[in-house]
Amino acid sequence: MAVNDRLGRPLRDLRISITDRCNFRCVYCMPREVFGPDYQFLRRDELLTYEEIARVARVLVGLGVEKIRITGGEPLVRRDLDQLVRALRGIEGLRDLTLTTNGSLLRAQARRLAEAGLQRVTVSLDSLDDAVFRAMNDAGVGVDTVLDGIAAAREAGLWPIKVNAVVKRGMNDHTVVDLARYFRGTGIIVRFIEFMDVGATNGWRLDHVVTGREIIERIGREFPLESAEANYRGEVAQRWRYVDGAGEIGVITSISQPFCGDCTRLRLSPEGELYTCLFGAKGHDLRAVLRGGASDAELAEFVAGVWRARDDRYSELRTEATAGLPKVEMSHIGG
Ligand code: GTP
Ligand code: 5AD
Ligand code: SF4
Ligand code: SF4
Repeated sequence: MAVNDRLGRPLRDLRISITDRCNFRCVYCMPREVFGPDYQFLRRDELLTYEEIARVARVLVGLGVEKIRITGGEPLVRRDLDQLVRALRGIEGLRDLTLTTNGSLLRAQARRLAEAGLQRVTVSLDSLDDAVFRAMNDAGVGVDTVLDGIAAAREAGLWPIKVNAVVKRGMNDHTVVDLARYFRGTGIIVRFIEFMDVGATNGWRLDHVVTGREIIERIGREFPLESAEANYRGEVAQRWRYVDGAGEIGVITSISQPFCGDCTRLRLSPEGELYTCLFGAKGHDLRAVLRGGASDAELAEFVAGVWRARDDRYSELRTEATAGLPKVEMSHIGG
């Protein structure tokens, strides 16, 4: 069964956040002043179990989901992640199973995750300048640790690898060309992300945003670029190819060129709330349905109802005023 929302968009991608915890404190995501020692993270009994997550995923593949991304917080801080990967891998009809991570724990886990059936990973790395990177993650983790994590993923056969870099003006925008240069010719695709007003705690301001266009101009001056076709309808990143054949990069322009028209993404929070938009204020309580003894058919009907009612297109409607509204945190719902 396939379902479309009120704007005619089908359900294709499921992004599962498995924890609201992270071992980083990126300034644009989990600022230490807010996510300090007293911050109340979810309790273990509030989290969906891996069995519950896998059941939801199976039902959603039945509704048209083809691609699943595991995210967080930092997914690798939750115990026995390979067990979840194994369960998801077994779902018939799933085409793509991937994961977003900060890379710091990949050396320890890449092989186990690959053996469990994970196909590829996306690693966040905002700068190759160690001082800049440490200032951004605010957790004392250096660039070398993440590069070693990326190497471990590659050795384990997790491929293709993508690198995500959030660009914040005055913080790391002077290092984007270095990032592009470093990964050119390696097959690893770097995507530069416009700093977004997700959540309500990251102090977002429009003048902190460096547009995708500006990023492409800066890199293109050193390494000529030409635009490339999207791989699939609704691809978030705009692709750009090096004219000399050294590979490609991407820009994710949620602020300057929103892409809601093709948004086929549904998000599941660690405690089992469904969010139909990254910028949602409130989720739909799927856990209550799950734990209330619903059959698979009843679960499917609940989710289909949520999706059919969906009319979100936050990025297209964004103003300076909406940026201050209460919204779910990125560290809770995932990227
Ligand atoms: P591929 O499957 O490799 O093409 O990845 P993807 O395009 O789904 O990208 P990824 O999941 O790595 O997302 C990259 C970044 O894009 C995220 O970290 C977010 O910052 C942003 N992003 C992803 N999905 C959305 C979305 O639905 N809305 C907005 N505004 N931003 C998004
Ligand atoms: N704007 C843009 N991207 C963000 N991410 C986290 N917070 C923001 C934000 N405010 C990115 C992370 C990671 C992915 C999960 O989302 O850097 O790459
Ligand atoms: Fe953690 Fe990722 Fe948020 Fe950084 S962006 S604090 S690594 S969840
Ligand atoms: Fe989808 Fe909401 Fe992002 Fe638009 S703002 S692309 S509707 S998640």
